[in-house]
Amino acid sequence: MTTAARLRIDRHLDDADLEAALRRDVRWGLSQHPKTLPPKWLYDDRGSALFDEITRLPEYYPTRRERVILEAHAADIAAHAEFELLIELGSGTSTKTRILLDALGARGRLRGFAPFDVSEATLVAAARDIAADHPELDLHAVVGDFERHLQHLPGRGGGRRLVAFLGGTIGNLVPDQRARFLTDLRDALDPGDSLLLGTDLVKDPTRLVAAYDDAAGVTAAFDRNVLHVLNRRLGADFDPDGFTHLAVWDAEREWIEMRLRAERAQEVTVAALDLVVGFRSGEALRTEISAKFRRTGVEAELATAGFALDHWWTDPAGDFALSLSSAR
Ligand code: SAH
Ligand code: TRP
Repeated sequence: MTTAARLRIDRHLDDADLEAALRRDVRWGLSQHPKTLPPKWLYDDRGSALFDEITRLPEYYPTRRERVILEAHAADIAAHAEFELLIELGSGTSTKTRILLDALGARGRLRGFAPFDVSEATLVAAARDIAADHPELDLHAVVGDFERHLQHLPGRGGGRRLVAFLGGTIGNLVPDQRARFLTDLRDALDPGDSLLLGTDLVKDPTRLVAAYDDAAGVTAAFDRNVLHVLNRRLGADFDPDGFTHLAVWDAEREWIEMRLRAERAQEVTVAALDLVVGFRSGEALRTEISAKFRRTGVEAELATAGFALDHWWTDPAGDFALSLSSAR
């Protein structure tokens, strides 16, 4: 069979949906105090390419640490249940996921892989590459928002499913969103399906801040890219160079907060929204949080949503954790 025949693509978001959601989010976010923008808009094609560069930065340890854990425990994960389908949420380029695919494939039960992401171009390119390298698998790419479309997860009522949510992306949701996400995910799964969750851990703030404000300025470019997205898609006239990227550790809430600080007072017009927003000199726009976790917190949040923690693995340095839990 050809690659194309084994690659199915479901789209739950078309350009019109994305446009409507972007408008809603931007109108809401820019009227908040402090102003905020939701992170999913960071990942247009350029944003996805910049994120890929972030994963290779010397300061950005999470990707390397998570890979070490996956390499050490992929066989344990594969031995946990006879998984037939691997679903990956926020899959991006699915680079680390190949370790899992190899381990699950070696057990001989895996039949399909379903990457799920809001960023269609990156998702489809990754699905094509994996289809070519894994002729034994059915590929089912899902273009969707994991905060809205979990009811469309493939494979319900079939064999056992493993949902991977890697990269610490769950930490980009605020606690309320996180609780809703986990509950919705649990509702979309059947008892005995599993969740493999990557969470970055609380550590020395100096290292945390460096990971989100690297010396080469790649993270700053990634963060400012959201202003280019608004300029292009909503006819806004942000001057991205008029904003400076900041990463701030919030010790109480245990998250890194990414901000874009207006370097001078400016008035920005968002043509598509008929909106004019003023920024005071020094005013910050919050673009993203990246929460850091402890085992007790992860275990409690999972339990509240109906998942029982079965395994907790960290890298030798204790920087990052992967947990494997079962839907009860
Ligand atoms: N899993 C990869 C990529 C992490 S970057 C890794 O571990 O390296 C986060 C990914 O999540 C991006 O590909 C982005 O497009 C996607 N994403 C962010 N918000 C999303 C949402 N609400 N729904 C679906 N995908 C989302
Ligand atoms: N999931 C990644 C994380 O929280 C996303 C990320 C890495 C990110 N660097 C960033 C998001 C910089 C915004 C800005 O680690």
